[in-house]
This record gives sequence, structure tokens and C-alpha cells, in this order.
Amino acid sequence: MVDDQSIKVLISQEDLHERIKEMGAQLTEDYRDGNLFVVGILKGAFVFMADLIRSIDLPLEVDFVAISSYGSGTKQTGVVRILKDLDSTIEGKDVLIVEDIIDSGLTLKYLVENLSSRKPRSLRICTLLDKPERREVDISTDYTGFVIPNLFVVGYGLDHDQIYRNLPYVGIV
Ligand code: IMP
Ligand code: MG
Repeated sequence: MVDDQSIKVLISQEDLHERIKEMGAQLTEDYRDGNLFVVGILKGAFVFMADLIRSIDLPLEVDFVAISSYGSGTKQTGVVRILKDLDSTIEGKDVLIVEDIIDSGLTLKYLVENLSSRKPRSLRICTLLDKPERREVDISTDYTGFVIPNLFVVGYGLDHDQIYRNLPYVGIV
């Protein structure tokens, strides 16, 4: 059993599902004439992405990248590395990057620059959570689930030292 005694709920399962349904409807509208290619950032985005793509009523492809910008714990190391790259080409595709949370913005800035050079037809960012107070680089998102204050959150894919990803809600440790 997950020890969630010390976790306070920030965004409930119901609120997550409601918002993700709205985001899916918006994406379905926006990409109706597109060639949607959804890129999830491992590991944190996999839970959100699984629910998000099932709320998009369009043919789409999925792929994943794994990027490491953090050591264990809550403090950022500033080092960005690609641990796993995309399996296929994104040239001419309408790429939607799906992220769990934007903090400093360093991870996404790096990924956007990297993927842009591969000539996608379009490239947009969809994040479940955004902590704008923590931003260190200029990066704007196209789709945001929830803007949250400067707190370390876990659950619904987000971890603390690799634990808590399976909590069905977003909570504060
Ligand atoms: P950024 O490069 O600083 O924007 O880092 C974003 C990444 O840091 C996310 O993909 C998360 O993996 C991780 N991260 C940032 N804030 C939190 C948090 O509050 N809880 C869990 N992971 C976080
Ligand atoms: Mg992450």
C-alpha cells in the first residue's frame, strides 16, 4: 500500500478528469485537420498522457522521450540529458509535447529546440501543471491543465524519489 498519510490533496481525481476531458475536447477541435503526433516526456507524463489521448477523438500517433534534468529529491541540478529519444521521425507532423509539470522550464526549452530542428509541421506544448513562479527561462505553453503555486507535488505520474506516481490525485508531500 502507498503510504499517503502525509499527502494533502491539491487536485482531486474528479477535478483532474473533468479538466482533461475539456482539454481533450479543445485538442480534438484544434487538430481536426492535422496530423497529430503526441510526444510524452517520461516518466512523469505517462499517466496524464494516457488519460489525455483517450479524450482526443482523432487518429493520432504516440511516442516518448525520456529527459533527465533532476537528481533524486526536489532540487534541480540544471543538467539536461536525453535518456531515450523518439523511435520515429516527426517531419511534417503536428507535434504536441505532453509534460506533467513545468517548473524552471529548462527541460521543455531544451526539448522544444531539439524537436524544432527535426522539421515538424507544428510544435505545441501541453502541460498538466504549471508553476510559473519558478520559471527561469522564457517558455510559453499552448495548453495548461492547472496553474499551481510554488509547491512540490506528487501523484498522477509525478514522483518524489520515484515514489507516489500511482496516486490517482495530485497532492503535496
Ligand atoms: P523544469 O525543467 O524545471 O521545468 O522541470 C520539469 C520537470 O521537473 C518535470 O517534468 C518533473 O519531472 C520535475 N518536477 C518539477 N516540479 C515538480 C514537482 O513539484 N513534483 C514532481 N516533479 C517535479
Ligand atoms: Mg518529468
